[in-house]
Amino acid sequence: MEKKEQLYEGKAKKVYATEDPERYIVSYKDDATAFNGLKKGTIVGKGAINNRMTNFLMKQLEEAGIPTHFVEELNDRETVVKKVQIVPLEVIIRNISAGSFAKRYGVEEGIVFSSPTIEFSYKNDELGDPLLNSYHALALGLATQAEIDRIKELSFAVNDFLKAFMKAHNVDLVDFKMEFGRLSDGTIVLADEISPDTCRFWDSTTHEKLDKDRFRRDLGNVEDAYQEMMRRILGE
Ligand code: TMP
Ligand code: ASP
Repeated sequence: MEKKEQLYEGKAKKVYATEDPERYIVSYKDDATAFNGLKKGTIVGKGAINNRMTNFLMKQLEEAGIPTHFVEELNDRETVVKKVQIVPLEVIIRNISAGSFAKRYGVEEGIVFSSPTIEFSYKNDELGDPLLNSYHALALGLATQAEIDRIKELSFAVNDFLKAFMKAHNVDLVDFKMEFGRLSDGTIVLADEISPDTCRFWDSTTHEKLDKDRFRRDLGNVEDAYQEMMRRILGE
């Protein structure tokens, strides 16, 4: 399958049409941004790591019964995915306090929750992805009630799977962001990526950060952290 016209360029990926109207090709970049694009940089090798890690995890999730957009990895940076219309919600699941949760509620990072939290942001760069609840999402026409219910159900199922999977690699899944899409027949599937860009990963023993917080917070050894996650998950 070959790339045709570019349909979209985001901060970390490009999306291309293909000869098949039901398939897109996603191409992962090394570009990194934070704080809604205010901080810009490059994480060498990130595109390939995020592509391969996302595909590996999406395959595992499919086997666990979670529908995803994944079709086929073409090469290190490019993947064929099902054509979806992205639901403009960023879905965040948290198992441990960190990031904007710790800041918003004035608590330290590292509090282990007895059950996971879920929150939504309106995926809208101009507005800075504002937090909203399901009533707001309904009022704005971003999704139907049935879609929101399905997204919540799938999100907790993804968390159950990923949390256990990461733990087996001595990694705590602190929190992560998901996006969902609608197939042409309306089926909701997991889309976008699952990578150190979109998850917080802490080493279970040392609590060392193995994710994009190293870039966001200028902690150094950014590339090393991505490579370490790749090594733990894909064994390379
Ligand atoms: P937060 O604590 O900044 O709200 O981030 C929660 C999780 O969502 C964290 O794992 C990083 C991820 N995330 C994204 O993938 N994209 C974003 O634009 C933001 C703000 C967070
Ligand atoms: N990638 C996002 C941005 O530039 C934010 C983040 O991951 O922190 O807005």
